[in-house]
Amino acid sequence: MRLQDFALERFFARWEFNAELLLCASDVEGWPMQELLALADSDGRRRWDDLRLGYTESPGDPALRAAIAGLYERVSADDVLVFSGAEEAIFAIHNVLLGAGDHAVVVRPAYQSLAEVARAAGADLTRVDLRESGGWRLDTDEVRAALRPNTRLILDNEPHNPTGALSDRPTFDRLVELAAESGARLIVDEVYRFLEFDPADRLPAGADALENGVSIGVMSKSFALAGLRIGWIVTRDRELLARLAAFKDYTTICNSAPAEVLSLIALRARDRVLARNHGIVEANLPLLDAFFARWPGVFEWVRPRGGSIGFPRLVADVPIDRFVEDLVRETGVLLLPGTVFADAGNHFRLGFGRTNMPEALERLESYAARTFR
Ligand SMILES: Cc1ncc(COP(=O)(O)O)c(C=O)c1O
Repeated sequence: MRLQDFALERFFARWEFNAELLLCASDVEGWPMQELLALADSDGRRRWDDLRLGYTESPGDPALRAAIAGLYERVSADDVLVFSGAEEAIFAIHNVLLGAGDHAVVVRPAYQSLAEVARAAGADLTRVDLRESGGWRLDTDEVRAALRPNTRLILDNEPHNPTGALSDRPTFDRLVELAAESGARLIVDEVYRFLEFDPADRLPAGADALENGVSIGVMSKSFALAGLRIGWIVTRDRELLARLAAFKDYTTICNSAPAEVLSLIALRARDRVLARNHGIVEANLPLLDAFFARWPGVFEWVRPRGGSIGFPRLVADVPIDRFVEDLVRETGVLLLPGTVFADAGNHFRLGFGRTNMPEALERLESYAARTFR
């Protein structure tokens, strides 16, 4: 298997821990350990205090799998397989489901591994474009037109990285219908699920919508616990789950014991965890609304509907890579150029999951005032 470099990760390898202020992080500000532990119920606290650092159960701790199943409507703990982050889950599912002669439909832009691992596994890909002019909306007619007899999977991401777009319910229902009719499996990367700004916009999970549908989730984004490296695949297709479990024997075998317990504590306290994370994101959003209102003709954006990132466009006539590089060198503020998503539209990813976002935005604004006025 020959994988191309993960452009976003290579960019971050250069800048993520050198830049003073990240204005492009994809996750919500990580929980301090002590604050998370303070949320533990007595069973969670006991598990933490008595934890033995041996190997763990390969599919994931049963209590953790039950807590993950509790995020869905129609699944049980036996429909859950825990991975080391969503990244391992993506790697596993493409390798298990795809090979030479198979076809997959993947939205574009997308988190690179969603397409690249599928390609490297040997599949032929059709990319379905989300367009800024259409509010980054998924066009299900384009999905339908892309389907072939050998289409094994349709890969969607709701809410979406990098745009923050979220399909409306009729669009999602149509996607489910297309998958059911065609026999292609619907896989939904739901790492930002539960971070919809209007809870009424939350879509059904892929694993709930279809018997063989797949949900990919993680503790990193909506739950703000990226350092735990705990993700999962949920599906009611037990045969698929068994194949994924067998694949995992060749990647990580089992998960980190402390991370499993901390994930369990967080999921059992999920209302409080999510309330804190919504608070951060929703305090930052109005500042961004005001910022973009002040800079028409220089920056434009389609306001996200969920998650902690958006994909604005630099309208000013400066190539985005140069803009991002100048900005970080001059101000210490890091944005992510859309070119790492193979985007040619001069977009950049902006993250609003950090409490220092107001300061980063002020520096961006001063830079813009010096550069574009
Ligand atoms: C859409 C999407 N899927 C999967 C992942 C991988 O998540 P993790 O790095 O926590 O495994 C990311 C991370 O940025 C993402 O944005």
